[in-house]
Amino acid sequence: MGCHRFHQSRKRGGAMASIFVLLLPIFFASIFTPLSHSSPAILSESNLPKPRHSRLFKGALQRESSFEQLSELWMPLPDQGWNTCKDFGMASRLPETSEGYIQVFLDGGLNQQRMGICDAVAVAKILNATLVIPYLEVNPVWQDSSTFVEIFDVDHFISILNDDIRVVTELPDEYSWSTREYYATAIRATRIKNAPVHASAHWYLDNVLPVLQSYGIAAISPFSHRLDFDNMPMEIQRLRCKVNFQALVFVPHIRALGDSLVSRLRYSPGRSEMVRDNYLREVSDARDDLAAGKFVVLHLRFDKDMAAHSACDFGGGKAEKLALAKYRQVIWQGRVLNSQFTDEELRSQGRCPLTPEEIGLVLAALGFDNSTRLYLASHKVYGGEARISTLRSLFPLMEDKKSLASSEERAKIKGKASLLAAVDYYVGLHSDIFVSASPGNMHNAMAGHRTYINMKTIRPNMALLGPLFLNKNLTWPEFQRAVIEGHKNRQGYIRLRKGQQSIYTYPAPDCMCQA
Ligand SMILES: *[C@@H]1O[C@H](CO)[C@@H](O)[C@H](O)[C@H]1NC(C)=O
Ligand SMILES: *[C@@H]1O[C@H](CO)[C@@H](O)[C@H](O)[C@H]1NC(C)=O
Ligand SMILES: *[C@@H]1O[C@H](CO)[C@@H](O)[C@H](O)[C@H]1NC(C)=O
Repeated sequence: MGCHRFHQSRKRGGAMASIFVLLLPIFFASIFTPLSHSSPAILSESNLPKPRHSRLFKGALQRESSFEQLSELWMPLPDQGWNTCKDFGMASRLPETSEGYIQVFLDGGLNQQRMGICDAVAVAKILNATLVIPYLEVNPVWQDSSTFVEIFDVDHFISILNDDIRVVTELPDEYSWSTREYYATAIRATRIKNAPVHASAHWYLDNVLPVLQSYGIAAISPFSHRLDFDNMPMEIQRLRCKVNFQALVFVPHIRALGDSLVSRLRYSPGRSEMVRDNYLREVSDARDDLAAGKFVVLHLRFDKDMAAHSACDFGGGKAEKLALAKYRQVIWQGRVLNSQFTDEELRSQGRCPLTPEEIGLVLAALGFDNSTRLYLASHKVYGGEARISTLRSLFPLMEDKKSLASSEERAKIKGKASLLAAVDYYVGLHSDIFVSASPGNMHNAMAGHRTYINMKTIRPNMALLGPLFLNKNLTWPEFQRAVIEGHKNRQGYIRLRKGQQSIYTYPAPDCMCQA
């Protein structure tokens, strides 16, 4: 369902609980039954979502950012003493013989699958096995059947890992029976289905190696989050980093489209026209230089699935409330823990995803002015254009895949959620500043990858923002001060990974080298 992803909480307990609650049933649903539950039939959700913070919005529209504020915002991160590593420092050798084939079936969205791929390489290495290119499950929410080779450059993947592990794109004939369908229809001796969350290297040696040795193949599923981040040999940890930051690149047509979008964002005429029309010429020239050719990517995941799962109220009135409650009932059958809380309780704890309006207010408060180039990385926004109109009026130069690329350019990715997400990932990675409206897999993947290349990433302080938005008395200057203060330490400075945290979100120290 993908819902566990915005529940990846600060505490491991929360994340674990939701993985158990949500991931496992999903896996079973997806492997043992045909993919069925798409959205329930048309619901009447016709009430237009209204702006909910009109007082702040009025203040934001008239905002003026000081030169100092803008220059600090756009200034790249300083050198923090951590760099990418020249090589991942391994005297890695291929084992002389392979113990057999490792197959994994990966669920979740693109970013969760990405972590699964990195872990699969590590497991193959631990076992001296040959990795079969991972099978990407069709996610019931996003419904994209694109395969690994349609998303990632498989030749690059294999050649980068050439000295580390053996990889095959297909099983040899004698194992061709080992398919997803084979495992979906009965209990099979070669399927490992009890890998614990965050299993150790020893667990794999004790439980999977014997299967490999008996049958020559082991199919592990579920596999997401099934390899520990702690107590791993350095060599294995470095290999996971190498996969994530070097081996996994998108197919050429995604990179080409991403490059075009990036260059249109950097060099499009929109902004200079705006500056020319501005009568405050002197000021605007200097200001414009600060942000010249720069852009922000805003990742906005605000789809119905997420809105419903959060159990928060988003101001779309009774119709929307009913529609979301019904969706929750159909998809999760009353298992959404949040629904026992009121909207106010959830908001005061910062557990509601920010709406487009709210993240717009946050960006405005941080000092982004109305000439900011904003790229909206987003799939479907629940409530559609009506829901993003406030954000658009705060940031008139907002673009997305659709506004920047022609329909010919988009033909190859149209309707394919994973490829669309891949383009957004690529543009996000190349942006000057990345912000996401909610914590989740995309945010974590991007935060980790951008830390690796020392690029700015703003992490919204949900615990601060929830209560701020509840307080209807707040004036714009008060809101602005609180937001600036509450985000000083959330702009991408290196935070060393702590126990149990993901190396893909916190790549230092495991994946990085000190200068
Ligand atoms: C941008 O903000 C300035 C200053 O607040 C204002 O004068 C201008 O009209 C705004 N431009 C747009 C396109 O909203
Ligand atoms: C894998 O190969 C290495 C070196 O060839 C060897 O030291 C190690 O014991 C092997 N591990 C397994 C599980 O076969
Ligand atoms: C908001 O303002 C009202 C009236 O001025 C006051 O009674 C109330 O305590 C204020 N609420 C907060 C959260 O400050």
